[in-house]
Amino acid sequence: METPGPVNPELVYSLRRVTEGAACAAFNWIGRGDADDGGRAALDAMRNEISKIDLDAVVVIGETSAGEAPQPQRGEHLGRPGAAFKADIAVDPVEGTSYLVRGLTNALAVLAVAPRGAMMNPGPAFYMEKFVASAPARGQIDPSWPTATKLEALAKVLNKDVSDLNVFVLEKPGHRDLVSQILAAGARVAMYPAGDVAGALMAAVPGSGIDALMGTGGTPEGVMSACAIRAIGGEFFARLDPQLQTEAKAVKDAGIDTSRWFGRDELITSDDVFFCATGITTGLMLEGVDRTKSHYKVQTMMITGATGERQIMTSYVPTERLASVAARDVA
Ligand code: FBP
Repeated sequence: METPGPVNPELVYSLRRVTEGAACAAFNWIGRGDADDGGRAALDAMRNEISKIDLDAVVVIGETSAGEAPQPQRGEHLGRPGAAFKADIAVDPVEGTSYLVRGLTNALAVLAVAPRGAMMNPGPAFYMEKFVASAPARGQIDPSWPTATKLEALAKVLNKDVSDLNVFVLEKPGHRDLVSQILAAGARVAMYPAGDVAGALMAAVPGSGIDALMGTGGTPEGVMSACAIRAIGGEFFARLDPQLQTEAKAVKDAGIDTSRWFGRDELITSDDVFFCATGITTGLMLEGVDRTKSHYKVQTMMITGATGERQIMTSYVPTERLASVAARDVA
């Protein structure tokens, strides 16, 4: 069904230039050990590309926190003030900063757009526990179930044995128990040191080799992933799960119930949502940026909720068009 909403094909085509621009800007910082300059260049490029689009967007997910690469501030307006389409926007110019810095696979530039008011504002929470799986799991798994019960139910709806399930988990000490539970249930784990937006995408896309994502990661990444998963049609639920003392206090002071699981459609309330991700470094889903003297070659996944369409597009962007990006290249 074609969308009557504001996220129309023309807008989708324009929006992918935003993550493409960020990815090209980050290109020169791959494997150079510098998170800040690479992140700043990618953010500048994103801002620049969004300013060309007829969209009045408020940043819901963004904001710099200590140790992270630069991100826009929550509440900041991007695009063109006064444009007819009033939107919420979530951007992460470099998702997987440690991959960029170390020249490893799976760094992405990511963006999600939805009608104004549709994205959940996570308040002071930096971390959330997430569960992601593909469409057949929708409504079939209770968030409160133990890990083994979740995996049994997932295997059933995917028509697999539990031993065939592969679960994406971020590799960190706090996930030791979760990993033990997954292994004890008989499933396998795919452990990545970072990048749970890519993990969520893989969990929701059938045939990616990943059947589910479990565990705690960033809240901004969680809301962005929820946008992608709503657009794809998969299952996503999450609960806020503070990992830092200051964060736990702020969450408590804000009266947030950390035992409450939020459903996908609470995190993103509209079907008219758009998500795109461009590969910075080559990963399991997307190729990374390549550059010749005349062109950047970039690959972008675009997911449009209103039409249910998913595309992977390879663009050859003239280096001239991104001359301002090149001007900020490392010397
Ligand atoms: P950055 O690119 O901001 O470093 O995020 C990478 C990431 O791995 C996210 O994908 C994930 O949600 C989050 O960090 C997990 O945070 P932490 O490593 O602090 O547990």
